[in-house]
Amino acid sequence: MNIILADESATLALGAALAPCMQPGLVVWLDGDLGAGKTTLVRGLLRALGEAGAVKSPTYNLLELHVVSGLNLYHFDFYRLNQPEEYLDAGLDEYFRGNGICLVEWPDRAVPYLPSADLHIRLSVGGDGRMADIHSGSERGERCLTSSAPLAAMFSASPPQR
Ligand SMILES: Nc1ncnc2c1ncn2[C@@H]1O[C@H](COP(=O)(O)OP(=O)(O)O)[C@@H](O)[C@H]1O
Ligand SMILES: [Mg+2]
Repeated sequence: MNIILADESATLALGAALAPCMQPGLVVWLDGDLGAGKTTLVRGLLRALGEAGAVKSPTYNLLELHVVSGLNLYHFDFYRLNQPEEYLDAGLDEYFRGNGICLVEWPDRAVPYLPSADLHIRLSVGGDGRMADIHSGSERGERCLTSSAPLAAMFSASPPQR
């Protein structure tokens, strides 16, 4: 499913639309080049869940923890992993075994060790804006996509791509 994100506020709104379907243990992959809007989307999601503090890119420390709405959200950025084995060496796999929600930028850097995604979001640059392509990777992810009313509204507002 594709959504056109005309400006930054649209990316924030897409993140916010995902908030109602966040549940313990969910794994979300965020693909896209540098500057595609991955961190912006996570910021919109966390703000909608009630994060009042800063949502900064975890590029330099690989992980930022946010505790909001009774949920532990782990925001990863694996851009700086040189080898996928570094994911294991740093013990990051532990976070994927618990009840936290894992939001992962640059997931491909930790494949093949990274658990598969319940939701897979690909962001790309198009003109001045961005495009989001969203897929579910599990039944839980599918339920998430179909249960969020704000998300359904965004899908129907975005015309099909030719
Ligand atoms: N839909 C959009 N249209 C135009 N600019 C956007 C959009 N979404 C985000 N941006 C801008 O893109 C820039 C990079 O975003 P960021 O979320 O840091 O990217 P990433 O985490 O993918 O590297 C930011 O300046 C942000 O404001
Ligand atoms: Mg980022």
